[in-house]
Amino acid sequence: MISKRLEDAINAQINAEMWSAYLYLSMSAYCQDQGYSGMANWFFIQFKEEQDHAQIFYNYLISRGGRVLLKAIDAVDTEWASPLAAFEATYAHEQHVTALINNLMTIAIEEKDYAAQSRLQWFIDEQVEEEENAVDLINKLRMLDGNGYGLYVLDQELAARVYTQASPLAQA
Ligand code: FEO
Repeated sequence: MISKRLEDAINAQINAEMWSAYLYLSMSAYCQDQGYSGMANWFFIQFKEEQDHAQIFYNYLISRGGRVLLKAIDAVDTEWASPLAAFEATYAHEQHVTALINNLMTIAIEEKDYAAQSRLQWFIDEQVEEEENAVDLINKLRMLDGNGYGLYVLDQELAARVYTQASPLAQA
């Protein structure tokens, strides 16, 4: 059985992951509107991955005898100054999510919940990748500095990103 403190924190994290999904879907719509269909694809897959993250926490809370409580999802931004600005906002958001996951791990340690620590380790590793991906794309976009052909090539590259279900769900 999971502690009430961790149950509340995981419920808050389910909401945060759903908000992340909504944010990236909004960025996908923005990129599509700007004509960057490859970037729109990248953000759409990011949207699906965030839904996976919410589902992993959802499944986990149930498996530990907790009660899932879904709350309202706050509105997200709909406009960015440029694709680069959207990726910069992505990096800032992922840094925030990393802090949330680290806080969950701190609670799990304080509660001596070793099972939760094991599940949270997957998210800690995942956040390294999330931040790295955002930084990589920010660096590429800064390097291009608005070069049209370069943006076209990068957009083509991002069009090739494919969705794969997060491993804790695939293993379930
Ligand atoms: Fe659910 Fe992008 O971290």
